[in-house]
Amino acid sequence: MAENKVFIFDTTLRDGEQVPGCKLNTKEKIELALALESLGVDIIEAGFPISSPGDFESVSEISKIIKNATVCGLSRAVEKDIEVAGEALKHAKRGRIHTGIGTSDSHIKNKFNSNREEILVRAVQAVKWARRYTDDIEFYAEDAGRTENEYLAKVVEAVIAAGATTVNIPDTTGYCLPHQYGEKIAYLMNNVKDVDKAVISCHCHNDLGLATANSIAGAIAGARQIECTINGLGERAGNTALEEVVMVFRQHANLGLYTNIDPTQLNPISRLVSDTMRMPVQPNKAIVGANAFSHSSGIHQDGFLKNALTYEIIRPEEVGAENSKIVLTARSGRSALAYRFKNLGFEFNRNDIDTLYDQFLKMADTLKEVEDENLRRLAKQYQDSFIA
Ligand code: KIV
Ligand code: ZN
Repeated sequence: MAENKVFIFDTTLRDGEQVPGCKLNTKEKIELALALESLGVDIIEAGFPISSPGDFESVSEISKIIKNATVCGLSRAVEKDIEVAGEALKHAKRGRIHTGIGTSDSHIKNKFNSNREEILVRAVQAVKWARRYTDDIEFYAEDAGRTENEYLAKVVEAVIAAGATTVNIPDTTGYCLPHQYGEKIAYLMNNVKDVDKAVISCHCHNDLGLATANSIAGAIAGARQIECTINGLGERAGNTALEEVVMVFRQHANLGLYTNIDPTQLNPISRLVSDTMRMPVQPNKAIVGANAFSHSSGIHQDGFLKNALTYEIIRPEEVGAENSKIVLTARSGRSALAYRFKNLGFEFNRNDIDTLYDQFLKMADTLKEVEDENLRRLAKQYQDSFIA
């Protein structure tokens, strides 16, 4: 295994599916799991088997079908949860149990009414229970983002000694700043005995809009798995967006980090997830939003039409998006207008465009966007004015 490969752990079907209104049935989950496998994700978190009979069935059926990716089931650090996850994953070619417990003082006190020593014991016990079913065990230290580093390192060391092969450091509340999250991962890399026996994983939430930045900071500091979702779906403000992480590593090749993801599938799978979950993608969403490759202001359009690289760092075909768009609004310029007329089959010279541009602006001020039909009408009126 190459040292600089970052494993992509997709949790669209678990953390993403927790979004109100995004619940999926087994058939839908299977369809998305197959698409995720084809995309090249390394691990598919298929669900939380003890949470409902339907989710148990989904994890079990996905385990039977998926051949290349690892299939993962979530559990709490509870013996019955882990047993049910083990049962749901029993047909998996590669099955992983993801178990864990809250480690921040807030979780320890408010959720468990417990103390650090007891939580450490429960963490180790959970990993031991999981070992009855598989050797591929991921431990999550919930709310690690707000867990004091020294205690977190103790927990991570203990669960690795107990057999955890991946240790997830979730910023559950999306609290950390990128440098803080990076320093947390670096602290663990430098202070946990046998840290190299496990993969350290980033699971960042987007409450402050920093999920992707935090995951990247974690990977730069040594984490080699990122947990993410298509379109950044997930609890509250969501999780790290898979498409963003993949393209950050591609754009910044000097980081030396890479994933196994086929970028040309990013837009098609974004639409598939959006349609299946009935959850629209915000138009300005990076990589997969409807406006990710649209240019609307005159200055940008002019530069883009001279050379796409002036205003686009990614070619749309690289991420399976439709061609870049020149959108006409009252902020657009003459070169964009001429370009759009030309695409519609109207060749106008510079003087024509000057006249048409004034008429275009009057129209554009009354519309959100000037469409092809408006342009055709404008061109026709202009041509007719010479006949009259
Ligand atoms: O955000 C979180 O802490 C989680 C864990 C269950 C991994 O989703
Ligand atoms: Zn989460």
